Amino acid sequence: MSSPRLPRLLLALALSSLLPRLAAATGREHLSLDSGWRFHLGDDWPGALRLDKAGSSGGPAAVKFNDSTWRSVDLPHDWAVELPFDQTADGSHGYKALGAAFPRNSIAWYRRTVTAPKEDVGRRVWLTFDGVFRDATAWVNGWLVAHHEGGYYPFREDITDLLHYGEPNVISVRVDATRSEGWFYEGAGIYRHVWLDKTAPVAISPDGIFVRAAFPNNVPANEADIHIGTDVRNASDSAATVTVTHDILGPNGAVVAHATATVDVPAHARAHAEAQGTVAQPELWSPETPTLYVVATHLAVASTEVDRLQMTFGIRTVGFDKDRGFLLNGKPYALKGTCNHQDHAGVGAALPDALQAFRIAKLKEFGSNAYRTSHNPPTPELLDACDRLGMLVMDESRLLGSDAENLRKWDDQIRRDRNHPSVAIWSVANEEFSVQSTAQGAAVARTMQTYVKQLDPTRPVTYAAPQGDEFDGINGVIDVRGWNYHIGTADSYHAKHPNQPEVGTEQASTTTTRGIYARDDQRGYVSAYGDDVPGWSNTAEDWWTYYAARPYLSGGFAWTGFDYRGEPTPFNWPCINSHFGILDTCGFPKDVFWYYKAWWTNEPVLHLLPHWNWSGRDGQTIRVDALSNCQEVELFVNGTSAGRQTMKPNGRLTWKVNYAPGVVSAKGFDAAGKLVTETKIETTGEPTALKLVPDRPSIAADGRDVAVFTVSAMDANGRSVPVAANKVAFALEGAGKILGVGNGDPSSHEPDAFIAPSPVQTIPVAGWKWKLTTLTGKPADATPELARQFDDAGWNTIRPKTDGDTGEMPLKDRQCAFFRAHVTLSEADLNQQRVQLRFGVIDDHGWIYVNGAFVGEGDYYGGEPSFDAKKMLHAGDNTIVVAVRNEYGPGGIGADVNVDVFHPPVTAKWSRSLFNGLAQVIVQSTRDAGQITLTAQANGLQPAVAKVTTTAVAAQASVP
Ligand code: GAL
Repeated sequence: MSSPRLPRLLLALALSSLLPRLAAATGREHLSLDSGWRFHLGDDWPGALRLDKAGSSGGPAAVKFNDSTWRSVDLPHDWAVELPFDQTADGSHGYKALGAAFPRNSIAWYRRTVTAPKEDVGRRVWLTFDGVFRDATAWVNGWLVAHHEGGYYPFREDITDLLHYGEPNVISVRVDATRSEGWFYEGAGIYRHVWLDKTAPVAISPDGIFVRAAFPNNVPANEADIHIGTDVRNASDSAATVTVTHDILGPNGAVVAHATATVDVPAHARAHAEAQGTVAQPELWSPETPTLYVVATHLAVASTEVDRLQMTFGIRTVGFDKDRGFLLNGKPYALKGTCNHQDHAGVGAALPDALQAFRIAKLKEFGSNAYRTSHNPPTPELLDACDRLGMLVMDESRLLGSDAENLRKWDDQIRRDRNHPSVAIWSVANEEFSVQSTAQGAAVARTMQTYVKQLDPTRPVTYAAPQGDEFDGINGVIDVRGWNYHIGTADSYHAKHPNQPEVGTEQASTTTTRGIYARDDQRGYVSAYGDDVPGWSNTAEDWWTYYAARPYLSGGFAWTGFDYRGEPTPFNWPCINSHFGILDTCGFPKDVFWYYKAWWTNEPVLHLLPHWNWSGRDGQTIRVDALSNCQEVELFVNGTSAGRQTMKPNGRLTWKVNYAPGVVSAKGFDAAGKLVTETKIETTGEPTALKLVPDRPSIAADGRDVAVFTVSAMDANGRSVPVAANKVAFALEGAGKILGVGNGDPSSHEPDAFIAPSPVQTIPVAGWKWKLTTLTGKPADATPELARQFDDAGWNTIRPKTDGDTGEMPLKDRQCAFFRAHVTLSEADLNQQRVQLRFGVIDDHGWIYVNGAFVGEGDYYGGEPSFDAKKMLHAGDNTIVVAVRNEYGPGGIGADVNVDVFHPPVTAKWSRSLFNGLAQVIVQSTRDAGQITLTAQANGLQPAVAKVTTTAVAAQASVP
């Protein structure tokens, strides 16, 4: 098998150069909508959703709403990570001030303008959200288009009918993260990508292609049959005979096979076309050889191409055998897996695509070959990274359920993910305690499993069962028995159910804190020796020794690869994140990383723990462990042997030695007694300098790629100080921006994200008074009530706005009134570049005057009317008057009226303390090719500077 690297690169280049041409030829465009959103935290427009009339929702859902005071954000975005920690908040979600007890923090709005060119008339336009946490309401131009609750599932709408072609359009999204779905940190906001897809009326349906390789008996042979199913959608008024042609491109970019089919698609209907091709001498996909093929699909009507789409896929087989366990390409293949949630230090649940790849690569470093997307469907870019880098995936649903809504979500998940070669098995659910042993639980699981067989006959199905030797309920009907913990009972279960394959869906839950070697209940740290495990769980050594000896169990998935926010087991506050990870929240390895690396890779591994900085403990006994796959290891303290020991398979070695500062070293030998590798740990001096190292010297200048910087502190001899805790400040110059910072400390309450103060100063227009009038239209300029000096002392006052309210709307049907109020501004305010007068609600219609001069009109359907009022306002007292005509229902003006003063933007100041010597800075490129310079500074230490080049690439197609 040839190295996949170079050919894949050539293929990618070939394809990317084709893309613009293809888009022009076929009309298909796949555009990112990630950039240029406005964001507002707080549910300040509770009446925005209007169900009485179509296309007329209010507040930020209305086209004319003024969002200029809102913060600018790019997606993916997680506002939960920006919130403070709060001891009264939900610990299982990471003590973020989010949820029912924090209403102000739990609902937010996003808005964005999208221009649809005139040439789009006649095309179909789809809006897709890959994932919003959670309960999203989406509008296009004031039209309600979607209400979608599930925080981990995509949703998509055909918005063709609603667009204003040749004009700007507005997408508004209200997100309500008050309720959670899981028992772990879940984020909040539009934390996955948003897309706009444009196609001809006859086109491939969204997620409409299913490509699969088949071999006799599911064992790879010299020829792979490639079955390609295509759903074709015809949104035109006439029936179409569609020719579907597929070119299959091999790893080197050359066409290796064709497949074709013809299908009649009635007007406004869908049809399915099945085609088949043959690939000779297929290069099989596996974690070790992640070889990808491409299927390029063309649709033609009467010989004219109407659509074209390219997709990667892999050729491989998966299966389970009752005795031999998991089979990859027909051969037993032990799953060395980890379960993972989806958050990372600094960015929460909003991971840039490059960080997905960074994480998968980290897991591969210790030999992991499988990833369980616990306990929810992943984002597609995670699967792309797994396809590309070589990582098998257990793709899990969020919830067990056979109701229409749950099956619709299951359907979406399977259709979206089934072309990924990485996906090896579906999981219907995790630990459904109350129903798993019931007949109903079994029936629901069976329905979900049957559903899989219809949509994807190639992959088996499991359930992550927290039971021991129990067959009732789901375990009795599922293809593959999943084991969450209960390692002792697998043999008796296997003896009773010898025909059911099995897999370790979730094991370990070993709790360790990086760089800590004694439990500290007060600070919320557990020891990194790895012996501290909750009652239901087991040490790395316990579970892996058991699984490695039983091929029928297929290997399994350790809980977890990475630490995640929430579930601070075994602690509560002040601890805010889990300790289960083999890596911490940044991806820094804990010692247990080398346990897995020793037994999950064939590389020689020899790692010693703890560190050797135990000032004040001279002469005391310290336990030293070696994590290694060497046959024998000899340990030396300051050059004197502490003994040579023989390693048991899947074991670890331990010595007790007396502490003296200096060097602890070890030599590892193979079975023949030959030295294989050696290592040492050293007592370091105090930190004297900082060090900054990016994970890559160069990243793409595409506004999406990221560089992950490791920050550490060095002593005078250039040794990394493992206990350093210095607070480090960061400054960035050039073509990038800092997305987040972290250090893996499970009890740190330092911010992960620093938000620049708003450049907008909002000054309320206060003291509103009103009086009825017989005037029903625009007042004449000389009307006395408009004048600055008019005496309104005897007028009515109105009850001001309370949170989430408009304030009092005193007018009844067909009443008209004058409303008057004042605002005081300074010279400095009026010296700023922009000053606007902004109204909340004007109901139903209003004529607005500033210091007697007419500035404009506003109405109920106009969102938040605002006016550039700089010229009419002056330093000192200003009078604002609105003549209001109410048609029906309560009317008036909402008391939320403000003058916004726009100051020049300021940048946020970023910092983070080192935790046991390390911290992380995640930096994203802009679209400018050039250089990113990151500087780290700490009191008393020599600063560090690191540079990353940003290289020009073809920009991702996006909506401006
Ligand atoms: C499991 C559960 C996981 C996590 C873990 C902690 O039972 O499936 O989500 O809570 O326990 O040990």
